[in-house]
Amino acid sequence: MRQLSIYGSGHLTKSLITGLRQIFPDKSIKVYNRTADKVLELQTYNPRVNYVANYNDLCSDSSFVFLIIPTSGIVALETDFVSSLLKSDSVIVSCANSVTIDKLNELFPKTKIVRLLPNINWQIKQGTTIFQSNSTVSTTDLTELIDILTRITKLIEAKSDQEFDMLGKLTSCGPGLFTKIVEQLLTSFDISDDIQKQAVYYTIASTMNYLIDSDKSVNKIISEVANKGGLTESAIIAAEKVIPDCFDFISISMNEKLLERRQKTK
Ligand SMILES: NC(=O)c1ccc[n+]([C@@H]2O[C@H](COP(=O)([O-])OP(=O)(O)OC[C@H]3O[C@@H](n4cnc5c(N)ncnc54)[C@H](OP(=O)(O)O)[C@@H]3O)[C@@H](O)[C@H]2O)c1
Repeated sequence: MRQLSIYGSGHLTKSLITGLRQIFPDKSIKVYNRTADKVLELQTYNPRVNYVANYNDLCSDSSFVFLIIPTSGIVALETDFVSSLLKSDSVIVSCANSVTIDKLNELFPKTKIVRLLPNINWQIKQGTTIFQSNSTVSTTDLTELIDILTRITKLIEAKSDQEFDMLGKLTSCGPGLFTKIVEQLLTSFDISDDIQKQAVYYTIASTMNYLIDSDKSVNKIISEVANKGGLTESAIIAAEKVIPDCFDFISISMNEKLLERRQKTK
């Protein structure tokens, strides 16, 4: 198995190494960060984290090198990093939200590149991750990476940049966005007691599990709950009046942010 290496020590790295500790407790993980102290903090989450003092050391052996830093940091990587990647036959795994495969090919010529958009739920082995790879990555490379990641996240291959952004913006930000939505739900329904909150969380989680496991359509499940003239029907009629505008607004504001970031990397 290739060496696992990570550039960056923020939230997403913390969630990745937490997930990796559960599936490979003995596997050493090289981590570089410009602020070295943050790498040492990561050892609380995974004692197999080893600090390297230079980012070129992330690929001294054949490695999967996860880049978990903002676009500005990826663009600033120097050419000797590309030489080290090529020499060790390593694979870049870029987790930056708005850097396309074409842009990565331009920044790291001839290099094996996988573009990955995960969410923090890989820390509980329930993440969702959108991915794409360039043509330099072999089937063997990709199979090895998929074999590792599939233990902590559901992998979905995007067929285009458009699909990557459309789906990835919701899946990568999902844990934050959906938590915010649930918070508003609790406020509007006047639920503040912890036990009552748990009742709502379990209702949401079990409903999503039912939706996934039963393979039933949304309308079929609604029809199992809503009776003509009843309470659920009144809730759904009210929701239909306000929810479309609310979610359209969120989607449009995220598209604007993606566009702004994309223009910065041109
Ligand atoms: N958080 C998520 O749920 C999530 C999901 C999908 C994708 N992502 C992507 O993952 C990347 C990191 O996100 P995060 O949430 O982990 O961020 P974060 O918690 O803010 O951590 C950012 C990390 O990047 C480093 N960094 C920042 N600017 C840098 C630069 N110019 N050069 C080199 N290193 C730099 C920071 O180093 P210092 O410690 O020295 O400041 C830190 O290690 C981003 O590209 C983000 O789009 C995040």
